[in-house]
Amino acid sequence: MEKKMVFALILTCILSVTILFVLGRQVIWRKENKKKRLPPGSFGWPIIGESISFFNSINSSHEEHRRKFIDEHESRYGPIFRCSLFGRPKTIVSVDPEFSKYVLQNEGRLFQAKYPSSTVKLIGKYGLINVHGELQRELHGTAGNLLKHENLDSDFKEDIQHVFITGMKKWEKQREIPLQHKCHQLVLNLMGKKLLDLPPAEELEDIYKAFDEYIGAMLCLPVNIPGTTFARGFKARKTLIKKIYECIEDRREHPEVDHNDLLTKLLREGIYSDEIIADLILFLLFAGFETSSTTMAFAVKFLTENPQALKEITEEHDAILKSKGKDEQKLTWDDYMSMKFTQCVIKETLRMISVAPCLFREPKEDIEYKDFLIPKGWAVLVFLSAQHLDEKYHFEAHKFNPWRWQNEGHEISQNPWYMPFGKGARLCPGYHFARFEIALFLHNLVTKFRLELQPSVDQENRDLQRPFLIA
Ligand code: HEM
Repeated sequence: MEKKMVFALILTCILSVTILFVLGRQVIWRKENKKKRLPPGSFGWPIIGESISFFNSINSSHEEHRRKFIDEHESRYGPIFRCSLFGRPKTIVSVDPEFSKYVLQNEGRLFQAKYPSSTVKLIGKYGLINVHGELQRELHGTAGNLLKHENLDSDFKEDIQHVFITGMKKWEKQREIPLQHKCHQLVLNLMGKKLLDLPPAEELEDIYKAFDEYIGAMLCLPVNIPGTTFARGFKARKTLIKKIYECIEDRREHPEVDHNDLLTKLLREGIYSDEIIADLILFLLFAGFETSSTTMAFAVKFLTENPQALKEITEEHDAILKSKGKDEQKLTWDDYMSMKFTQCVIKETLRMISVAPCLFREPKEDIEYKDFLIPKGWAVLVFLSAQHLDEKYHFEAHKFNPWRWQNEGHEISQNPWYMPFGKGARLCPGYHFARFEIALFLHNLVTKFRLELQPSVDQENRDLQRPFLIA
């Protein structure tokens, strides 16, 4: 009985202290808010803030729910608001395209990239989004040079086709394809080959598994206790970095072997330390893996759900094959440039799913923007996916409608509300490459397979691990 009373007393004390703490903080911040004109907003619960409702909303399986968190906040506070996310009570969220553009275009001057600490630790000291100033410009340039438009035909086309055709050949023997997993494998094989000249992922099960755990830990609490997602991800990082160091050793011991990969190029140039090279290679693997493979899998999902779009894209690729002689079935650069509707499908898929949903920045100094003060040291979260699904900027925003991009061709959109690859000094250096590989993937898919959504797959369910029937 006594124990129960003590327990009730402790519980009451904890609750009272929490309530006082929350109220006290609200009062202090309301006062400051008036004085400094901070963007309006709320704090939610201590430490977790509003993270849970934020994550529930952006990860929702229902397209129309993914803007729920934003809709609620935007209607109450406007498109620039303050809240507590990722354990940071001082967070400003932007779904205002003009402000978002201002933040991203002032990278390095007024703002700098600053990601949650789990991401920072897993990416490593020289992972590109952790690097600033001159070194960021140099490494960004190195990645941009490798992946530039002009190199796609000469340096990548044959390898992409080889990896995709041999990988997808194996699909013919299966009737049910776990699509997301298979796309992951295709992209990892390709990235592994181009960056480190690795054999296909099937032959490197341990690396593939490590990579899965590494990616899985990117946005979790950075608690390095055995058994946690973060600890597994951090261990996986060590495995991956060790593998890259083994490749570096191998290149030094056997300079006579001709590896046509980025690692060999970087070692020959001799500009960067091994530590920088290892982090850069791992970052490129990370940046190009989940993003492209998820876009591929979702493009297929949207196409299977939209027969007219599937018909149109199939006709586009059939026409490319028909225009070729029997002996020359290889794709040319002109073939790629003629894939106009395919580009619309890719753009629309990127708009619908926003594989990089939020970009994180930190003001380097106190900044006055319109009526607001954006204080130094706060987190600024540019919420791209909310902009991409905003009815104000995209008619019937939740509908997959590739035809909305029909007049833009291969150009990256000039539409200021659409920026799946970011903007400014950190604009994704892989954006030409990503659209190229996704287009070639779709080419092979629609010309070699007939797509059907498996009846047992719930149309509402976005879990692409579930099989699709491909006959
Ligand atoms: C659909 C595919 C992709 C999407 C949607 C995407 C999106 C993005 C976005 C939004 C950023 C900006 C991050 C920021 O400003 O904080 C970014 C940066 C970056 N991306 Fe991509 N990306 C894709 C594919 C790729 C690929 C295939 C590669 C390379 C193989 C790549 C390499 C990079 C690198 C190195 C950066 C960092 C640039 C820097 O911080 O200087 N991305 N990406």
